[in-house]
Amino acid sequence: MTLAEELKGFLKEAEAELASPDVDVEAVRVAFLGKKGKITGVLKSMKDLSVDEKKEVGQVGNQVRTAIQEKIEEKKAEQEAKALEEKLAAETLDVTLPGAKPKLGSAHVLQQIMDEIEAHFLGLGYQIIDDPTDSPEVETDEYNFERENLPKDHPARDMQDTFYITPEILLRTQTSPVQSRVLEKHDFSKGPLKMIAPGKVYRRDTDDATHSHQFHQVEGLVVGKNITMADLKGTLLSIMQELFGEKHQIRLRPSYFPFTEPSVEVDVSWDEVTPDTKPEDIKWIEVLGAGMTHPNVLKMDGVDPEEYTAFAFGLGPDRFAMLKYGVEDIRQFYLNDVRFLDQFNERGI
Ligand code: DAH
Repeated sequence: MTLAEELKGFLKEAEAELASPDVDVEAVRVAFLGKKGKITGVLKSMKDLSVDEKKEVGQVGNQVRTAIQEKIEEKKAEQEAKALEEKLAAETLDVTLPGAKPKLGSAHVLQQIMDEIEAHFLGLGYQIIDDPTDSPEVETDEYNFERENLPKDHPARDMQDTFYITPEILLRTQTSPVQSRVLEKHDFSKGPLKMIAPGKVYRRDTDDATHSHQFHQVEGLVVGKNITMADLKGTLLSIMQELFGEKHQIRLRPSYFPFTEPSVEVDVSWDEVTPDTKPEDIKWIEVLGAGMTHPNVLKMDGVDPEEYTAFAFGLGPDRFAMLKYGVEDIRQFYLNDVRFLDQFNERGI
C-alpha cells in the first residue's frame, strides 16, 4: 500500500469512528490529527521518497487532514445540538402548573366578629368610636369608674380589679368610659347620639379557660328624646339575629349595673325558635349586659335626664366567638397558634 493510499484509508477509518453517536470527538482528533497522530506519522516517513512523490503524498495528506477536520467539526456541532435539546427537554417548565401560593393571613376571628358588629350598627346609623382620643386603653379612675357611677368605695369595683399605673390612672376594665368621653362633647342640636365603641379591656384576673387579663368589649350607647327600653330590646334583637341567625330569640332578665337603671342581662336562644317551640324547651345563654342609662351618669356627662333618656349595652366578642365556634378556652384567641387561627381564615387557605 502506498503512503497516499494509507492516508486515504485514514479518512475512512475516521469516518467510521465518527459515525457512532457518542464518540469521543477529541480522542479522534488526537488520534488522527495530533502531533503524534497517524497523519503526522505517515508524513514523517516521507523522507525517502522522490520530490514528486513527496508532493503527491503531501497533497493527499493535507486533503485528508482537512476532510477529517470537517467531519470532526460536524460531529461536534451535532453532539452539542443534541446535548442542548436533551437539557431543554429535562428542564421543561410547565407554565400551566399552579404556582406556590404565598400564605396570606386574614383578620383575627375576634376582629371578624367586631367587623360584623360594626357593619350592622353602621347600617343603623351609629358612629363607630375607636380612636384613642375618645377610646383610650389607659384610662383615668374618673372615667373608668366614677363617671360610670362607681365612686371610690363602691363594692362593684371588686369585680373589676385592674392594672394601675398610678392610683388615678389605670388600664380600663370596660369600654363604658367611652360613653362619657363622647357624650360630654355631643351636640344635641345635631340629633341624638348613637355610638358603639369596640376595644380592648383589662382585668387583673388570673388567666384560665374562661378568664383572660385582656379581652374585648363593644359598648353601645343611644341618647335622645323618648328613648325607651323597647328601643333597647329591638336593637339587641337585631344584633343578635345578625350574629346568631334570624330565627334566634332573646330574653331580658333583671340585673344590676351601677350605670344603668333598670339593668338587664340578655340571653340568646342556643337553637332556632319557631312558633312551635315550647318556651320550656328553649336553652338560653347569657351574652351581654344592658340597661337604661342611670340619670346620675347622664348628669355627670352634662345631659339633663328630664329631657333625654338613654340606653346602653356592653357585649363581649370573645364570649360570642367561644359560643359561636365552640371554642372552649379563651386563651386560644391570644396564643397566636396559626393552626387555631387558620380555622377562621376567611380566605379559606
Ligand atoms: N361594662 C359592663 C362590664 O364590663 C358591661 C355593660 C353592661 C356595659 C351594661 C353597658 C351596660 O353599657 O349597659 O361588665
